[in-house]
Amino acid sequence: MARAWSPSSWQAFPAHQQPEWPDAGDLDRALKQIASYPPLVFAGEARSLQASLAQVAAGNAFLLQAGDCAESFEEFSAVNIREKLRVILQMSVVLTYSLGVPVVKVGRIAGQFAKPRSSNTEKVGDLELPSFRGHIVNGDAFTPAARIPDPDRLVQAYNQSASTLNLLRAFTKGGFADLTRVHAWTQEFVASSPEGQRYEQLAGEIDRALRFMRACGVDTEATHDLHETNVYTSHEALLLGYEEALTRQDSLTGGWYDCSAHMLWIGERTRQLEGAHVEFLRGMGNPIGCKVGVTTDPGYVLELCEKLNPARIPGRLTLISRMGADKVEDALRPLLRAVRDAGHPVVWACDPMHGNTITSVGGRKTRDFDAVCAEIDGFVRAHKAEGTWPGGIHVELTGDNVTECIGGADKILDSQLDDRYQTVCDPRLNGRQSLDLAFHVAEGLRSTGLA
Ligand code: PEP
Ligand code: CO
Repeated sequence: MARAWSPSSWQAFPAHQQPEWPDAGDLDRALKQIASYPPLVFAGEARSLQASLAQVAAGNAFLLQAGDCAESFEEFSAVNIREKLRVILQMSVVLTYSLGVPVVKVGRIAGQFAKPRSSNTEKVGDLELPSFRGHIVNGDAFTPAARIPDPDRLVQAYNQSASTLNLLRAFTKGGFADLTRVHAWTQEFVASSPEGQRYEQLAGEIDRALRFMRACGVDTEATHDLHETNVYTSHEALLLGYEEALTRQDSLTGGWYDCSAHMLWIGERTRQLEGAHVEFLRGMGNPIGCKVGVTTDPGYVLELCEKLNPARIPGRLTLISRMGADKVEDALRPLLRAVRDAGHPVVWACDPMHGNTITSVGGRKTRDFDAVCAEIDGFVRAHKAEGTWPGGIHVELTGDNVTECIGGADKILDSQLDDRYQTVCDPRLNGRQSLDLAFHVAEGLRSTGLA
């Protein structure tokens, strides 16, 4: 018999990566305030996403999960949200057209604030301060004051998530995501590049296909799915107090849902089987994910599947491998075999970012575009060999013209990282690199005969 679960049962388990809030009373007040606020998403939407992910698990769709490593309180504007959506839509069009399957779009957005850290402190010269844990916890400035966890930030994160989600809904349902506008999604700095021109060509083909359908008598105006789309939200469920405050009982089914986002995942540092994060998410009705790194063994993964998805509901559980380009093929294959043989209907996604983080000569955290591509290639080869479906990718990106990851078609050099290094946490692919990656993924799947 499984132990009883409740939205607060995680509190009896060890919770890693929780901030040391200076005042328990202040924290409690902030959480009570959030608990009194409306949910950000509805249970029915989470169920729709789960149904779409079930199609991914069955090999009939592809998952594109993408967005910031950490959203920022400072970089919060309509333009910022629109540009991120724009690049996700562009990537999705490339993948849909090339793979011939629906692309399930999930943003690391509207709540992706909290960051786990490898070290509790950060040292610059002689000064050692608590690590930055995301704007939902503390400030990124390297000063003692900025680094003190502030519970008011939890409320601010809720409010920013609500506004972001509001705009996302408006953009995706109000005409911005209309497939007849596929040309209009190219940002200026991408348009003139080889990836941009390749995209324009593909957009032209889509135009022709739409004209062909109309000529055949298909009423494309009346076809809903051509004019609006779904972009779901997701983030790492790290701060369990915040997540609990947004957990609500669905009046329709009686099930519990974490209404802070459609999908929640557990990170590499908090996925202990007897830990609070696994305990919290096992009771949620939302689709959930878990990162799996290179040290993961098949026995652990099977226990994790049993714990998080004992009823074996397709689309409920996404396993996101983040192993490093040179390790993924060998490390992933035993996991794929074990899960396949046990009959667990998981979605497998590739996070090609977190296993490939390096330090540049100038001391910046960066990732090489070639390594990112190489990890996806290894991921695809592993699936090809095991007869499983490489269900999707999980990437950190922005629509903006940043210089955070080296390489790519415009060959960003180590020495150029300082030009526009804007992330508050990990380095993101820029608009051009993201589009290029979508073409690379599509080609990889097609050349191995998987699509
Ligand atoms: C992340 O997704 O930003 C992250 C911290 O990943 P991981 O848990 O895989 O290290
Ligand atoms: Co990250």
